[in-house]
Amino acid sequence: MRGPALDLVATRLTEDQLIRQVLQGGGNMPAYGKNLSPSETTALVRFLETLHPSINQQPQMHRVRQP
Ligand code: HEM
Repeated sequence: MRGPALDLVATRLTEDQLIRQVLQGGGNMPAYGKNLSPSETTALVRFLETLHPSINQQPQMHRVRQP
């Protein structure tokens, strides 16, 4: 059993939603609230956000140009 790729998750979920997913689990994911301290949870969610901080930091060839 494994979860989905998380490299774009910060574009789909807000920080509050990411924290909730880690603490409470959901779907088929186990909850981590008993295993992580608040600062560990914050660090983990901040890390997930760095995976995709902004669309402007995507590689050039993947950038969508707006008219
Ligand atoms: C600390 C480790 C983990 C983190 C930070 C994490 C994070 C996340 C996040 C942020 C999502 C939401 C994805 C989305 O909505 O696009 C997610 C979903 C999911 N994760 Fe994890 N996860 C962890 C561990 C695990 C493990 C160990 C499993 C499997 C045993 C798992 C299985 C899943 C599944 C199946 C989903 C989809 C939930 C659904 O069906 O709605 N995750 N995870």
